Amino acid sequence: MTSYLRLGINIDHVATIRNARGGSHPDPIRAACMAVSAGADSIVVHLREDRRHISDLDLVRLTDVIQKPITLEMAATNEMLDIALRHTPDTVCIVPENRLERTTEGGLDVISKIDHLSGITKSLREKGIKVSLFIEPNINQINAAKSIGATAVELHTGAYCDSVTYHHKNNSEQLIEMISEAAMHGSSLDLDIHAGHGITYESVGKVASISSIIELNIGHFIIGESIYIGLENSIKHMRFLINKSRESSKD
Ligand code: PXP
Repeated sequence: MTSYLRLGINIDHVATIRNARGGSHPDPIRAACMAVSAGADSIVVHLREDRRHISDLDLVRLTDVIQKPITLEMAATNEMLDIALRHTPDTVCIVPENRLERTTEGGLDVISKIDHLSGITKSLREKGIKVSLFIEPNINQINAAKSIGATAVELHTGAYCDSVTYHHKNNSEQLIEMISEAAMHGSSLDLDIHAGHGITYESVGKVASISSIIELNIGHFIIGESIYIGLENSIKHMRFLINKSRESSKD
């Protein structure tokens, strides 16, 4: 039977809007509470080195208020490691971070940074924090993630989702196949398989139909859509599309 697909809601861009004026409105923690009541299974935040959206104080408030699991996305730096060890989120998702990028552009190269990532993963695991590595759907990166003791990999869906948005049909068939094969491979190694980045109502269906994926993490589109239909409706509609896709792909 196909497993339940968890939905993590990333609230970073509520903070982006708040920070545009430097005040306290809109409050990302209020949005996190609404996301939980709309059915989010976890709340995701990316504490960036330049603090362009979520702040350290947001993270403190979030861990105080939210009862659902929190995923902290962070770069593999000593500063972030100290913060994670202090706040002990349920999961840390290690992402590559480039100061000048608008958003996380590609997956982590686990192979070339294996010693560094191995040390960070070990410190987090010793504190009981699950570790997910945000990678491209690539078998060698998955094997490397497994070898350093990660609990999960999050497969980067950005290229696939862009191909759907821009109607590059041939490309999108090939890209979803790569995600599906990578997910199956990771699952066969007993890694938890997550996926995310760039997911929209239009692209969620095929990703959600991959039965070895157990969690999707979605932010920008949901927050954007909430301008038109409200945050709760925006999340509920995504949940509806996920369930519909999961149901129709039952083996
Ligand atoms: N997963 C990871 C690891 C990310 O870095 C992001 C973006 O912060 C997301 C998921 C969510 O991507 P989006 O905001 O495009 O839905």
